[in-house]
Amino acid sequence: MMNKSITTLPPGSTIGILGGGQLGRMLALAASRLGFNIHIFCPDANSPAFKVAAKSYSAEYDDEKALAEFARHTDVITYEFENVPADTAAFLSSRIPLYPNEQALSVAQDRLAERRFLAAASIPTAAYASIASIEDLQEAISKIGTPSVLKACRLGYDGKGQAVIKKPDDISGAWKKISGVPAILEAFIPFEREISVIIARSQTGDMVAYDPGENRHHNHILDETLVPADISADTQNKALEFARKIAESLEYVGILGVEMFVCNSSAHDPLYVNEIAPRVHNSGHWTQDACNTDQFEQHIRAICGWPLGDAARHSDAKMKNLIGEDFHQWPQYAARADCNLHLYGKLNVRPGRKMGHVNQIMPKKPDKTSRN
Ligand SMILES: Nc1ncnc2c1ncn2[C@@H]1O[C@H](COP(=O)(O)OP(=O)(O)O)[C@@H](O)[C@H]1O
Ligand SMILES: [Mg+2]
Repeated sequence: MMNKSITTLPPGSTIGILGGGQLGRMLALAASRLGFNIHIFCPDANSPAFKVAAKSYSAEYDDEKALAEFARHTDVITYEFENVPADTAAFLSSRIPLYPNEQALSVAQDRLAERRFLAAASIPTAAYASIASIEDLQEAISKIGTPSVLKACRLGYDGKGQAVIKKPDDISGAWKKISGVPAILEAFIPFEREISVIIARSQTGDMVAYDPGENRHHNHILDETLVPADISADTQNKALEFARKIAESLEYVGILGVEMFVCNSSAHDPLYVNEIAPRVHNSGHWTQDACNTDQFEQHIRAICGWPLGDAARHSDAKMKNLIGEDFHQWPQYAARADCNLHLYGKLNVRPGRKMGHVNQIMPKKPDKTSRN
């Protein structure tokens, strides 16, 4: 890392983003504020990010002609989703800097690779086994026991590609539910709460982390993030240390999201890492209105070789996702002085679709010491 040269991209440079969803859109908005031009590459012609970009490429991720054109007109490339095909990443990174790097991408897009990476970095996770057949699953259940969670190695999100196994009888149903693809079986963690750490690492290896947020899910989709999380100082320090260690080991550049399970915050119980996301993260949206520099600007700063901004939190916050029909509540949030509304410009409301979010901002309460 140290002997790699660092290029600072000045305002006026062009940033390419793979993926045109709301995360790409909010990255583009943050980058525009710093004077950058944004080009978005996404197969879907109706991508929300296209509406805020200087140029859009609506092509498949294996369309090398379109990718070459995209690379020729950009100074750096990043992505807003972790399932960028490895060949696409390799094709682009041979032409132009790609951040976060390909290792971060390959670790985050395969749960087995992720578990192995975390184990090598001595980061605690739920006990797991690699599953390639129903026989593997039977054997793993006899070791790991129930309840446990079967997770497809690739392409899962919002709880998709997962099955909970409560008793050995559930094995064949679970294997069918994930369509018999390569998977991991994981011990079920009876967590007290879920938290995430959003951390940024620059090209010079500097790191800043946001205060951990507490995540509440509904129908397996993130519903709310509360900041500060109700955890002890000890748990908070441990969470930040894990995130730093992961970013450091990957020689990471950009924003990284790290999801964790807290079992019992007031006791010295283990803290487990569940998942890492090599991108800006839904559970970091609160930073837009409660911090000097939000996760989107921080990511742009990191990939452009700028110094990182201040991640300190000036307010308490509650981020609420507007999912499906929740979208129609926008007027009531727009009328509230304590709320900032972020809408993604999506044309159609569909059940489970993330349409926008609201950041409710509250005066910062003094830090708790009772749980330390
Ligand atoms: N080992 C586990 N023990 C208990 N709950 C789990 C476990 N793994 C996942 N979950 C629950 O399922 C949710 C989704 O799982 P996750 O691995 O984060 O996949 P994704 O976010 O890609 O859908 C988690 O946020 C958590 O609520
Ligand atoms: Mg998750």
